[in-house]
Amino acid sequence: MTMTTDTPVVRAHGTEHVEPHVIVRYPPDQRANHWITVIAFFLLATSGLAFFHPAFFPLVLFLGGPQWARVLHPWVGVVMFISFMILAFRLWRDNMWGQGDTQWMKQIGDVVMNRDDRMPAIGKYNPGQKLLFWVLLGAMIVLLLTGIVIWRSIFGIYFSVPVHRVAVLLHSFSAFVLIASIIVHIYAAIWVKGSIRAMVRGTVSYAWAHHHHPLWFRKMTGRHTVADTKHDRPL
Ligand code: HEM
Repeated sequence: MTMTTDTPVVRAHGTEHVEPHVIVRYPPDQRANHWITVIAFFLLATSGLAFFHPAFFPLVLFLGGPQWARVLHPWVGVVMFISFMILAFRLWRDNMWGQGDTQWMKQIGDVVMNRDDRMPAIGKYNPGQKLLFWVLLGAMIVLLLTGIVIWRSIFGIYFSVPVHRVAVLLHSFSAFVLIASIIVHIYAAIWVKGSIRAMVRGTVSYAWAHHHHPLWFRKMTGRHTVADTKHDRPL
């Protein structure tokens, strides 16, 4: 696949850049939003695991020691929830289940074996990413609601002991789901070469977009192939 030097730069969401042959996937505000969520998640996962089992106790150091971890964990939780919700509000439409997504899921074996040519064409996100998005959203909501119930210093007087105990269980369970999902998310981000760049520099190559998200590539560039000059018009 050759890329011509007269290939136009694609500008999206008002983001200006001069690098040719790339498409903007995440403008700076979305990237900042994502990385704030990541930092909050890291602090929450480490302190949460430390509260959960003594084997993880040293992890409280990321929040400044046991007392500070106890005080800050719920507040950082609120930051993560708000930050994630802003991101989710901007991305949910692209994560709606679409035509071909169920078929894509049925052919997950072909994805793992890199037989992408057999798969139905994909838009901005593949069904695996979409599923993960909704699982993350669900886990976030359960974590916030149960987190409020078990936030003793502020809401302690409003909930009975049995309700508190059920909330602790649900909180731990949804944290487990969130951590496991993020491990899959990070693995996929590293596995699909060129994806990390999307969240670090904001752009992806034409080749990456055409290979992994052909419908989105077509929408963003008006091209049918990477080297197609017939539809050579930027959005
Ligand atoms: C070190 C940790 C992480 C890395 C390296 C990472 C990397 C990435 C990358 C590369 C993308 C772009 C994927 C694409 O456009 O195809 C992405 C998207 C995304 N990430 Fe992360 N991420 C991390 C942690 C998190 C965490 C903790 C959350 C939320 C709790 C999160 C939520 C998202 C969401 C919602 C998207 C958009 C995908 C969609 O809407 O389906 N990420 N991430």
